[in-house]
Amino acid sequence: MSEEISVNNLNRVQAAAELLRLNDILKIANIDYHSKDAPILSDSEYDKLKQRNFNIEINFPDLVLDNTVSNQVGASPLETFSKIKHAVKMLSLGNAFNDDDVNNFDVRIRKFLGLGTNKLTYTAEPKIDGLSLSLKYVDGKLVQATTRGDGSVGENVTKNAKTITNIPKEIFNAPNILEVRGEVYMNHEDFNKLNKRQLDKNAKLFANPRNAAAGSLRQLDSRITASRPLKFFAYAWGEISTSISKNQIDTMQKFSAFGFSTNKLTKVCNGPAELIEHYKIIQSQRGLLGYDIDGVVYKVNDLTLQEKLGFRSTTPRWAIAHKFPAEIAQTQIKSIDIQVGRTGALSPVARLKPVNVGGVIVSNATLHNEDYIAGRDSNGNQIRKGSDIRVDDWVEVYRAGDVIPKIRNVDLSKRSLNSKSYIFPTHCPECKSLSERLIGDSIARCTGGLVCPAQVVQGLVHFVSRGAFDIDGLGAKQIEQFYELGWIKEPADIFTLQKRYSSGLQQLQNREGWGETSAKNLFYAINVKRKIPLNKFLFGLGIRHVGETTATLLAKHYGSINELKIAMDLAINLNGNSWDDLLSIDGVGHVLANAIVSTFKDLAQRTVIERLIFQLDIQDEIISKNINSIIYGKTVVFTGSLELMTRAEAKVRAESLGAKVSGSVSQKTDIVIAGPRAGSKAVKAKELGVQILSEQNWLDLIKIDKF
Ligand code: IVH
Repeated sequence: MSEEISVNNLNRVQAAAELLRLNDILKIANIDYHSKDAPILSDSEYDKLKQRNFNIEINFPDLVLDNTVSNQVGASPLETFSKIKHAVKMLSLGNAFNDDDVNNFDVRIRKFLGLGTNKLTYTAEPKIDGLSLSLKYVDGKLVQATTRGDGSVGENVTKNAKTITNIPKEIFNAPNILEVRGEVYMNHEDFNKLNKRQLDKNAKLFANPRNAAAGSLRQLDSRITASRPLKFFAYAWGEISTSISKNQIDTMQKFSAFGFSTNKLTKVCNGPAELIEHYKIIQSQRGLLGYDIDGVVYKVNDLTLQEKLGFRSTTPRWAIAHKFPAEIAQTQIKSIDIQVGRTGALSPVARLKPVNVGGVIVSNATLHNEDYIAGRDSNGNQIRKGSDIRVDDWVEVYRAGDVIPKIRNVDLSKRSLNSKSYIFPTHCPECKSLSERLIGDSIARCTGGLVCPAQVVQGLVHFVSRGAFDIDGLGAKQIEQFYELGWIKEPADIFTLQKRYSSGLQQLQNREGWGETSAKNLFYAINVKRKIPLNKFLFGLGIRHVGETTATLLAKHYGSINELKIAMDLAINLNGNSWDDLLSIDGVGHVLANAIVSTFKDLAQRTVIERLIFQLDIQDEIISKNINSIIYGKTVVFTGSLELMTRAEAKVRAESLGAKVSGSVSQKTDIVIAGPRAGSKAVKAKELGVQILSEQNWLDLIKIDKF
């Protein structure tokens, strides 16, 4: 058998013969190796053949030899998944919780598209409670399977996905490149059987089918995945070389013809009333489906309209998930703890007697803040009819979507007579600094700043989290461990760790849970992240109010860390233009602007930032695909009532061509697009000599007849 035939091209007979051949060679090589005789294979040849044997076993599980070499000790499973950048981002969905939200979704879309009362159809389908997976087919062959990861980069689980029986390994009459996306899940019957097997083996039980599906797909040893009964529903797509249809529902039919399972409860609906009607039908069948769903997904049916609507930072405008109401359970509060966040916020948490809420065991619930415990909202109005929450109270707990469980109600009839109101602490429980609560703020905060270990640790945990620096192998547990050891006290320390501890490698190795490989992997993962995009760097700093979206806005606006620092220094020195410029960023208000400038102004924080910058290679923000656009890098302002496009469309389109859309006119403005009834902004533009265009002139400039 020639080595040239790739594993995916082997037929059954060839595969069986090849398994025999490989097993023979590998067994001899094993003996050879252990008897330390002259090896017949180099390490890399050995690894290659072993991997080939393993891949054939995955493709033909029924041909696996009883005494396969794969089961011999030394068959090393993968150390970690390799990473794959998604050609098209894998996004999440916005949520609707009630009929109003659904109606608003329809109104928003109509407004965005300027549709008026014209007909608009949607699809409605169950929202499967599993984990999303992207399957890439090249020339009809399944070549790659990637988890969602952070939406931009996922994990390569190709081998594992190939073991899922209802995922076609080959499809016919499909575009050359087609990425089919959908949900991996486990049905109830299979989940119960799996947990029974786990119980028999004295192994850990899975809390629910979703956890079981995730745990099974993300196995480094795909033989384990193969032994788990996973299933896949197709419902979306990523990269596609040629379009296969004009609307969502036909695409689903095409997927089904390719051999994918698609959900039978998918229906085309004319408007929100029909969507809600179908939601109710699906909800009534929820318990009979045999697998978990947590809502209904609505999508604009017409793909041209989907494209026009486009995306917000993490969710599409053309789809929404209408979630089922939260499930509720009753339990008792054992104690109330205060957690200290990275911004010093003191967050009360109820420790509960563990209770099953819709398939998940819940033992903590958020209590939000002092007022919430006392039975008031942030405006001083009563909540829960004014009843406070106390230790030992019986409460109703619920989960809404994926968020942390919450407390709905207190059962006062079960309250003991000698129970006492909870007194909110006046000092930080971690560093004993005084806590302060500013007027108008519902949150009490520790004033300890960098003195408070809890704030520092949480800040570091945020720094290494997904969305920020996303350092593999450095999570909350390791950060706490390293902080306690005094090895990492601020972000820059992460990048000097290896140098300061070249002998520390040994120290690391000797710590519980660390081996030579994991320590080396950690230093590798850290070094890789020295090169970091500006938006991720900014998000990683953990400045109050600066989430991922704002960090991206800032990065796009300033372009480089140096420009940003210059602007901050000017703002610190109360330079009016610099403040105006910061405030002109659409989405940046006074609170946010203050938070950013005061972070750069505070000497201690600035020193921490500068030490960090010194360790990094911060990448400028470049929107390469738009670099040839005529409006690339220009600052534009839309004013007046636009008639040829909606405001939202205008903004999205301008940004997609590389322009900055600002909310106010200044010397930095390049173009003002003035619709009818334009007011003070147009006047100011005239005064400053800024170019003013009509809507049509603008569309001509960017070469679009009409949106
Ligand atoms: S569409 C561009 N359809 O829900 C968005 N998602 O909460 C494409 N999900 O990340 C997603 N069932 O993992 C879509 N029928 C369905 C779904 C579905 C489950 C998951 C998916 C997504 C998450 C968002």
